[in-house]
Amino acid sequence: MNSEANQQEALIQEAAAFLASWRAHPNAQPPSDEECSNRLEAIRVQIAKTGTYVHTARELEFGARLAWKNSNRCIGRHLWKSLEVRDCRELHTEENKEERTIEALKSHMVDAFRDGKIKSVVSVFAPRIPGQPDPVRMANHQLIRYAGFDGAGDPDSLTITAHFLRVGWKPKEQGDFTPLPWQFFWDEWPGAVHDVFHHQPELIQEVHLTHPENPAFEALKLKWYALPVLSDLALKIGGIVYPFAPFNGYYMGTEIGARNLADTGRYNALEAVANCFDWDTSDDRTLWKDRALVELNRAVLHSFDQAGISIGDHHNLGANFESFCQHESGENRVVPGDWTWLNPPLSGPQTPQFHRDYDNTVCEHTNFFYQPTLWEEAKPSSGCPFHL
Ligand code: ARG
Repeated sequence: MNSEANQQEALIQEAAAFLASWRAHPNAQPPSDEECSNRLEAIRVQIAKTGTYVHTARELEFGARLAWKNSNRCIGRHLWKSLEVRDCRELHTEENKEERTIEALKSHMVDAFRDGKIKSVVSVFAPRIPGQPDPVRMANHQLIRYAGFDGAGDPDSLTITAHFLRVGWKPKEQGDFTPLPWQFFWDEWPGAVHDVFHHQPELIQEVHLTHPENPAFEALKLKWYALPVLSDLALKIGGIVYPFAPFNGYYMGTEIGARNLADTGRYNALEAVANCFDWDTSDDRTLWKDRALVELNRAVLHSFDQAGISIGDHHNLGANFESFCQHESGENRVVPGDWTWLNPPLSGPQTPQFHRDYDNTVCEHTNFFYQPTLWEEAKPSSGCPFHL
């Protein structure tokens, strides 16, 4: 068999595996035996003719939810059935595709934020067609993310910020919390840079951190955005790859309080936190870092709660995830997982995850995947940056 035939056969196998997986979820209204074999036959014909196949609306919806359920590193998967799936597969065919796409992302953000009662949403854009450049992708890691400059902002964003500055972004300030602009790639060619949040700051909901007991904490002027919308992962359903499918959940407090604001390679705020409690930071053995971590995490949860914005903590999410695993095993389904990610960066052994093993096998046919960035190599003035 030549390699094209191999690829087509692999795609059929992944489509079949997806349908089988759906059938293992009887409560999700899977297709019947007969519907399945008819559908597979139709998929076969479509693939032979076009090299790919097109998901029905129901396949897209269940598939995106299943991709979340199959994400081994995610602790929030008990909510997988509530994911709202938006079909944006045709937007790139519109004449004003850039404006339409920006509009779709803005309404995703507003509807997902839902005045603080955050709802999980995924917007699924055009699928990859084998042998062709991806119709639409985004440079951004998340729809909302703070820039990283020399000596200010989020060090995690240093390289992408350098990229944006290189292609003409003029930030109004280079501060610690300057939101990055957006950039799309159309057929893998870089599009314009849009400073969306400069023009519509109200689109970013942020939470200023205060501490439940220590008024000095506020002076640290720490804050974080409310809505994590991952925009650089590829969604794969039954072998079909959607290279642009931004999705959000709500935060778990430790993501912000024990990593984003605390890591030495990120905002590195623990010493400042300790200082506002007047603790001696000269000796690590006093565990001032550990105490500061706890107080910073308390401040994150307290501030989100005060603002009326959804946020999980590692105890409630840990307990929910454990009940979810038990429920699934009662249905004879295994919840695969990555122990190193399911354990929180704070108090791991106080959650059920620490005391369990997980099967870390990755479900290949339906999942979310990392993919190489387009912008790191993108040089607008040089040749065509295809990556196939
Ligand atoms: N850890 C990432 C961050 O801090 C977000 C990853 C997704 N998190 C989520 N709760 N859905 O921005």
